[in-house]
Amino acid sequence: MRHLRLVPCARETVSYELPAIDVLQRRVPHPVPYQGSKRLLARYILPFFPNDLELLVEPFAGSAAVSIAAASQGKCTRFLLNDINKPLMALWHDIVHRPRALADAYETLWHAQTGDEGRYYVRVREQFNRAGGTDNLPYALT
Ligand SMILES: C[S@@+](CC[C@H](N)C(=O)[O-])C[C@H]1O[C@@H](n2cnc3c(N)ncnc32)[C@H](O)[C@@H]1O
Repeated sequence: MRHLRLVPCARETVSYELPAIDVLQRRVPHPVPYQGSKRLLARYILPFFPNDLELLVEPFAGSAAVSIAAASQGKCTRFLLNDINKPLMALWHDIVHRPRALADAYETLWHAQTGDEGRYYVRVREQFNRAGGTDNLPYALT
């Protein structure tokens, strides 16, 4: 995606301004499964939005379910995601900037777990909690 702009909003809060997602009218996968996600509610929320939105600001964005749904329905072309969770926002940054590397890392972890899923998951989660980074986070969130 193009034109990502980092917008510092408040202490310990980071926002990203995202361009139009270029998958309008297609089935849009959600990269982040998230507790409290509005994924299922988004279609009931969107009708309350005007159709000529220039910028959709999603505070407490989490998985950005409302922005993703709005983009998929062509409601808006620019999005600003805001969340206090820095690892999550770093993940959104990488989803935009290095999606292939992120997907490859996830695939590697997914295949490596085979046969020892439970303990492998705990190891990856511990590694993420110790070292951070975004490559382990999508797997740790599954
Ligand atoms: C229930 S989740 C939101 C889920 C989101 N609506 C979705 O569809 O995935 C609440 C989010 O608010 C964020 N949050 C909590 N306090 C915040 C604050 N003071 N500023 C910004 N984000 C905050 C959390 O990190 C969390 O991601």
